[in-house]
Amino acid sequence: MTNTDPILVIGGTGTTGRRIARLLAERGRAVRVASRSAAHRFDWTDPATWDAALDGVRTAYVVPNDTEPHTPELVAAARDRGLERMVLLSARGSDDPGYYADRRNTDNGHLQGEQALSASGLEWTVLRPTWFAQNFTEGFFSPLVEAGDLRLPTGEGACPFVDADDIAEVAVAALTGDGHQGRTYELTGPRPLTLHEVARVFTAATGRTVVHTPVTPDAFIAEQTGAGVPADLAEVLADLMGPLARGREAHPSTGVEDALGRPPRSLEDTLSRRG
Ligand SMILES: NC(=O)c1ccc[n+]([C@@H]2O[C@H](COP(=O)([O-])OP(=O)(O)OC[C@H]3O[C@@H](n4cnc5c(N)ncnc54)[C@H](OP(=O)(O)O)[C@@H]3O)[C@@H](O)[C@H]2O)c1
Repeated sequence: MTNTDPILVIGGTGTTGRRIARLLAERGRAVRVASRSAAHRFDWTDPATWDAALDGVRTAYVVPNDTEPHTPELVAAARDRGLERMVLLSARGSDDPGYYADRRNTDNGHLQGEQALSASGLEWTVLRPTWFAQNFTEGFFSPLVEAGDLRLPTGEGACPFVDADDIAEVAVAALTGDGHQGRTYELTGPRPLTLHEVARVFTAATGRTVVHTPVTPDAFIAEQTGAGVPADLAEVLADLMGPLARGREAHPSTGVEDALGRPPRSLEDTLSRRG
């Protein structure tokens, strides 16, 4: 693997992908950002776009497609085209069949993707993060923060929200360094926070009052669709928050420290770096 080969970042316009692309570029590595809207057009639902993205690439970071998962097919296509190393984004709980216990009983296809990769003969690393802290600052939950009320179906559950910059640093270590191959890193922040505590951290950081109002999954879906979120997305989000509400997300994991040799960033740290 030479340092001049481009590193492919599928989903390189998203929350983790664009951070990884930026870190790689800062380290002088050639980067190929690929997605539907990127200069290198890659569409999970259109395999005709895959070959051009994979051409001449030996290392790739992959953000899978949750709505229509095709990771096993991509792993096979990439191996056939000479890929040597893949770092795959997955999610905490992917290996637990009862984890989501939701109306679709889905794991978003993460486990099938992980299994295809680990059986492929490629060098592999799997990242299983918990909920990203950035969901509150740039993702699905930021409108709730703006409105000052985290109306979420999370009950009194807690989660050690993980900073996407930590995920990106672990990914870059695995893409460019040794010692991470064949590893599955479960990535979390340092301590579990209830949504009430998240609201208090935002209040302290911004000076604007933010509260948490626990709502039922059905009320969440109704409120989100009322605000213009597509019903299927609102339902998926409600299902994905089930483990958090049931207390399954609360335990911190050691993945950031295992991979980087330093503790993970806190939510306070995440907010202090927003400027
Ligand atoms: N958010 C969380 O808290 C969290 C926690 C654990 C695990 N995860 C996992 O992380 C992954 C990413 O989720 P996210 O919400 O953070 O999304 P994201 O990475 O911010 O955005 C999705 C990325 O995928 C690209 N994309 C979407 N549809 C595509 C398609 N059909 N073909 C090619 N590229 C496509 C998007 O770019 P274009 O729109 O330009 O195509 C974008 O770059 C998911 O697999 C999710 O299960 C997320």
